Amino acid sequence: MIIEPKTRGFICLTAHPEGCKSNVLSQINYIKDHPTTNGPKRVLVIGASTGFGLASRITSAYGSNASTIGVYFEKPPSEGRPASPGYYNSAAFEDQAHKDGLYAKSINGDAFSNEIKAQTIKLIKEDLGKIDLLVYSLASPVRQHPVTGEKFKSTLKPIGQTFTNKTVDFHTGEVKDITIEPCTEEEIKNTVAVMGGEDWEFWIDALKEQDVLAEDFKTVAYSYIGPSLTKAVYRDGTIGRAKDHLEATAFKIKDQLKDIKGEAYVSVNKALVTQASSAIPVIPLYISLLYKVMKEEGIHEGCIEQIERLFNQRLYADNMPLDSEGRIRVDDWEMREDIQAKVADLWKIATTETLPEIGDLKGYAKDFFYLFGFDVEGIDYDKDVNEMVSIPGLQ
Ligand code: NAD
Ligand code: NA
Repeated sequence: MIIEPKTRGFICLTAHPEGCKSNVLSQINYIKDHPTTNGPKRVLVIGASTGFGLASRITSAYGSNASTIGVYFEKPPSEGRPASPGYYNSAAFEDQAHKDGLYAKSINGDAFSNEIKAQTIKLIKEDLGKIDLLVYSLASPVRQHPVTGEKFKSTLKPIGQTFTNKTVDFHTGEVKDITIEPCTEEEIKNTVAVMGGEDWEFWIDALKEQDVLAEDFKTVAYSYIGPSLTKAVYRDGTIGRAKDHLEATAFKIKDQLKDIKGEAYVSVNKALVTQASSAIPVIPLYISLLYKVMKEEGIHEGCIEQIERLFNQRLYADNMPLDSEGRIRVDDWEMREDIQAKVADLWKIATTETLPEIGDLKGYAKDFFYLFGFDVEGIDYDKDVNEMVSIPGLQ
């Protein structure tokens, strides 16, 4: 079929298999040129199909020849209806990995459930024995609790005060004010239940109980802090409480891993266009200004550059620099004082009229369509493609 982008609000309902494949291959090529010294060999990635999780899987496989198991939640294709992008990404990754002689298998299902955890552990036992790295990169709006069955929904709201600031609709380029009313206590609790650290800890508990964690095992989960501009709605808001919880969980997990000399970290990553971040109010305007400034300074990075730096200069480096809260920081370039000062100045003058000039709205929109395999160089979008792609290592 001919596949074109079909957008609704912050989401794109279609994805292009050839475009997704091309994106995955570019990331693979980047890592082939930047191998990891002393990198991991047996890796489990939760949230492995898009964004930072996919980049982590690629960095493991192509940076240090790791066997990888990916867990994700993606929609398969049906006749005349394309799959979700993470499905096509995983198909492309596993196809290439197998051609290159790398072990790569995956499980498509709800990582929050006990069933998917059990299925994953069974696969580890059968094929890998143990793992030496778990990357936890889930981003989900909902979670069903595996014990109580309760369903939680996360929200993106300020706590205790109304938040008003600028935002941009990157499809139209319109800059306008957005007002978000404060959350309830219940919404804080629910957001922490979805995006906090409980499920990460449940994974570690289950993996440890089944004795599939190797000596010197490491685990890392991803967090975000961001600028003062988004503080009230992000880090001081409902999602920030969840990130606080995730960060506290790293210390709890570290304690649990003492006997195997294991380590647990949270890495604070840079703001990037992903399916998760395009849904967050105010962030798209911030990102379009940030991209402009960071590209001008020559320090812009995408997911793959971020994760390559995380592996080579943090997780598997001789010395791992941590911040005062014990976190890994690869948002260091985004948070540089000069970068933040420039973004804050541009923010003040950002309007529908000025943004095309002062911001990188084009870069934002391009990255957004890129996530779905559109707007990718070298792809002929008028050509018929087979939407019924399958994932070779899917269990
Ligand atoms: P993403 O939307 O690209 O990836 C989410 C992944 O989770 C996908 O692989 C998806 O299939 C999987 N997933 C979602 N629900 C699932 C479920 N129930 N079971 C199994 N898999 C499921 O998101 P991302 O931006 O790469 O975010 C990953 C992490 O990085 C999040 O914790 C996010 O907060 C953090 N982070 C993101 C940014 C950013 O700007 N995008 C910055 C810093 C940190
Ligand atoms: Na991810």
